[in-house]
Amino acid sequence: MINWGIIGAGNIAHRFAESLAQKKDGRLYAVANRTLEKAVQFQERHSCEQVYANYNDLLNDEQVDMVYIALPHQYHFEWIKQALLHHKGVLCEKPATMSANQMREVKALAEQQGVFFMEAMKNRFVPAFEMIYQHIQAGDIGDIVKISTSLCRLIPKANTSYHYLPIQGGCLLDLGIYNVGLFEPFIKQPLRVSTLAAVLDENDVEVYVKAQLVNAEVEVILETAFDQTQLAEAIFTGTKGRIRVIDFHRPTQFSLEIYGESVTNFDYPYLPDDFSGEIQAAMTAFSEGALESEQMSLQSSVNCITLIAEIKQKLTEGAFINLASDV
Ligand SMILES: NC(=O)c1ccc[n+]([C@@H]2O[C@H](COP(=O)([O-])OP(=O)(O)OC[C@H]3O[C@@H](n4cnc5c(N)ncnc54)[C@H](OP(=O)(O)O)[C@@H]3O)[C@@H](O)[C@H]2O)c1
Repeated sequence: MINWGIIGAGNIAHRFAESLAQKKDGRLYAVANRTLEKAVQFQERHSCEQVYANYNDLLNDEQVDMVYIALPHQYHFEWIKQALLHHKGVLCEKPATMSANQMREVKALAEQQGVFFMEAMKNRFVPAFEMIYQHIQAGDIGDIVKISTSLCRLIPKANTSYHYLPIQGGCLLDLGIYNVGLFEPFIKQPLRVSTLAAVLDENDVEVYVKAQLVNAEVEVILETAFDQTQLAEAIFTGTKGRIRVIDFHRPTQFSLEIYGESVTNFDYPYLPDDFSGEIQAAMTAFSEGALESEQMSLQSSVNCITLIAEIKQKLTEGAFINLASDV
């Protein structure tokens, strides 16, 4: 039985705890929050043995095998490192880190300590994604020539936590990381930013981004936003066919078109929820003594944040078409 500790009793930690409660080989053992009061409230909803008023006390508890880091993005890096140094297996919310250098440091530390680490890129661990992956790997749509991804969710500023803070805010780190998480396994050479259009808010936090990314083989469109809601859709266009995925950040359905032959719709419900697959994958890999998961490797996390950071850097440099000034 794997004893889990949760670091940060915020919004997403509740979803994790609900999903973990369905597992036979893992259980919620402890939760830590900056205030004991909130940790106790969490324990009242999700029963566990220990509550802590700081994250270090949880890490010093020898009964804790794995930790789930559910803090705002900016604090992931520090607590990933602390957890690895305490020899706890780590599942950390996306984006695991805020920069490529940070993620490279995490990779090196996990390898040096010989401790499991995985970024909680939940869309890679749902049955629908596994089927999409198999279709693409089997060559069902031929060679991929274009991947379009759009994940735009209206997130009003009032009562948000980290979303609009200059240091860690913006739609790229929060939502765009899912776009990259989806297409990264199918990209064989580094992508470069070809064209970039964006809208920044009054604090220079990006609220809309549309990036065209290219290498010699493929064109990728990454669209993401906090200032509007659109159908969340990804389309993989290949030389023989096309796969269309709705809600690709947590997909259950997709269609497979073979040009001139057929269009087939597939429905793969969660088993039983969208967190379950990533939790199971992390526990299985940890139990087997693996350092990383096959579906979301350490290098995969480096690749994902490298691309997001490159786009963010272009925004910082002003190297983009400012759509706000066109309005
Ligand atoms: N997988 C998904 O579907 C999904 C969905 C949403 C978010 N996320 C990810 O989950 C992470 C957390 O999001 P959330 O909405 O759960 O965040 P949140 O509720 O705002 O905060 C989570 C926790 O972080 C703690 N915290 C806030 N500021 C801190 C600081 N300065 N130092 C130490 N701890 C601090 C909070 O403690 P207090 O209660 O004391 O403030 C709280 O316990 C984000 O990285 C996000 O990308 C994932």
